[in-house]
Formats: sequence, C-alpha cells, structure tokens
Amino acid sequence: VGDVDTLRLRPLRLDDEGAARAAQRELAADRFTFALGYVVDDGWPAYLARLEDERNGVGLAPGRVPSSFLVAEAGGEIVGRSSIRHALNEQLLRIGGHVGFCVRPGHRRRGYATEILKQSLVIVWALGVERALVTCDDDNAGSAAAIERCGGIFESLYKPLLGAPVRRYWID
Ligand SMILES: CC(C)(COP(=O)(O)OP(=O)(O)OC[C@H]1O[C@@H](n2cnc3c(N)ncnc32)[C@H](O)[C@@H]1OP(=O)(O)O)[C@@H](O)C(=O)NCCC(=O)NCCS
Repeated sequence: VGDVDTLRLRPLRLDDEGAARAAQRELAADRFTFALGYVVDDGWPAYLARLEDERNGVGLAPGRVPSSFLVAEAGGEIVGRSSIRHALNEQLLRIGGHVGFCVRPGHRRRGYATEILKQSLVIVWALGVERALVTCDDDNAGSAAAIERCGGIFESLYKPLLGAPVRRYWID
C-alpha cells in the first residue's frame, strides 16, 4: 500500500538536489529524463532559477513554451515528477502534449502516476487550457493506463520517422 493520498506536486527546492540527482540516475535506466534540462556543471541553484524562468516564460528559446516542472512528494519522499506545458507548439502537438510525467522505479505500481497526472490536469485547467493532450509510447502500458484512468480519449497513433509509435490522447 502506497501513500497516494499524501501525494502533492510542488516546485523543486535547494534541498532536493540529492534526491533529484538520484532520480535522474534511476530514470536513465528507462532512457527517460527526470530533471529536464539539468546540466550538472551549471550547478543546482542555477537550474532552479532556470526552471523558474521557464515557468514565467522568461528568456525562452525560440519556439519553446512556458512550462512548470513539479516534483511529486509522497510519504516524505520525491516519488516522481511532472512537466506541465502551458501551451502546445507544433512539436508538442505531435508528441509530448501538455503533461509529461514519471515515477521512480522503487515507487511504481502504487497509483502514483495516475495521481500525478490527475493533479497535473487540475493545474492545466487552471492555466485556461480547455482540452489537454497527453501522449505516450505505444508500448508503455503503465503510462497508457494512467492516461486512460484520468479520462484520456485515444485520438491517434503518431508514427515518427525514428523511434516507437506514440499514442495521442485528449482529456477534457
Ligand atoms: C509509466 C509509469 C509513469 C507508471 O507509473 P506507476 O506509478 O507505476 O503507474 P500507476 O501505479 O499509476 O499504474 C497505473 C496502472 O498502469 C498499469 N501499469 C503500470 N505499470 C505497468 C507495467 N509495467 N506493465 C503493465 N501495466 C502497468 C497497471 O494497470 C497499473 O494499475 P495497477 O497497478 O492497479 O495494475 C512509470 O513506469 C514510469 O515512470 N516509467 C518511465 C517513464 C515513463 O514512461 N513516463 C511516461 C511517459 S508518457
């Protein structure tokens, strides 16, 4: 039994560096990135400042949209994270969508991904988005199940030139 009822999304803090770097190593085994855009050499405080700028849409690279990076804390531990895109660009409309999420390997199969997506969608609605796009690799059963449990309606399978086909879902 997990601590799904205690799960809360919050921004990364200065004292999260150790846990976030551990999560970064763990997710690398899934060829997935936990701390999006983190470069070790830049240092942790600079990373937090960059995330804050991304959230506020300050100094975005051309074509990038504002985004909120939030970690999921449950039972006093960082168990996963969410990246909430405030709008879609052409790339995100094909693959990526409004919300990207993951759960640390040691915390899976306890409903955390479903809860992270559910709470992320509340934030998406608060941003004024009416229909949320959420995508996952066609072979990612766990992610597809979480999306469907959050009300995702399958729209299409997008086949990129390289890599696995991607399932695209809308939630409203
Ligand atoms: C996919 C992922 C987010 C699932 O996280 P999770 O917290 O284990 O998901 P949940 O506990 O909410 O699972 C919901 C349901 O998905 C299904 N599921 C989860 N993992 C599964 C797996 N490995 N195989 C088959 N079904 C799975 C189950 O039906 C599960 O419900 P159940 O445990 O009651 O049977 C996690 O495995 C992960 O972070 N993977 C790497 C990164 C990633 O793929 N992110 C998603 C990108 S879109």
